[in-house]
Amino acid sequence: MFIDTHTHLDFDSYDEDREIVIQRAIENKVSGIITIGTDLKSSEQAVKIAEKYASVFAAVGIHPSDCASAHYNDFEKIKELTQHEKVVAIGEIGLDYYHMHADKETQKNIFKKQIKLATELNLPLIIHNRDSHDDMYEIISNEGVAETGGVLHSFSGDESFLEKILLTNLYISFTGNITFKKSTTDPLVIQTPLENLLLETDSPFLTPAPLRGKRNEPAFLVHTAKKIADLKGISIEELGSITSDNAKTLFKLNL
Ligand code: NI
Repeated sequence: MFIDTHTHLDFDSYDEDREIVIQRAIENKVSGIITIGTDLKSSEQAVKIAEKYASVFAAVGIHPSDCASAHYNDFEKIKELTQHEKVVAIGEIGLDYYHMHADKETQKNIFKKQIKLATELNLPLIIHNRDSHDDMYEIISNEGVAETGGVLHSFSGDESFLEKILLTNLYISFTGNITFKKSTTDPLVIQTPLENLLLETDSPFLTPAPLRGKRNEPAFLVHTAKKIADLKGISIEELGSITSDNAKTLFKLNL
């Protein structure tokens, strides 16, 4: 079995066939899915989807690219959503200095606020990081992130950044872009111990080869998993079993 720990099933690209997409995931042995909110509305949608399907769980939170438009009340409402039994994490939250939809101070404050919330609620974090490695590492080190636990998703950065992150015991996940021909991430995948690895698609984005150009979906996880298994020199079944155990441990999934 496999667990897709990061997808956005609430996005409107799934409006026509959401049920089929979830069914197709199950047919491809993706027996667990975490659908991730990016703002209040999307978090509410994520919970609604998780409510409908046994294999789907939800994460709720405000993405760094959506934090400029977040209202003070949104955090109270996010907190209320966490009381739902299918909510397993706070995410996705973090820093994005590539898109820069909000200034750095705003992003950092909202990230820290949500780390506090996760710590208070004893929920793991799903963290987004793009072109913000130094500030990310500073916040991870100073805000008790290692104790709260979580995953740095769609990992980007070099070997020394990865080494520092691994020392905090956070989990790491790579997306379909590791399957691209010009990808330079092979050494990073090899460097990440199996006990720190989770699988994800980040669908509908980052469709793995050989399906590039199509909308991504959880069923396509197998292509990324195959690449990781090959780099690790283990079978795809073994990788699926180890990473599923990791996901079940981190997110306390009832699967
Ligand atoms: Ni995402």
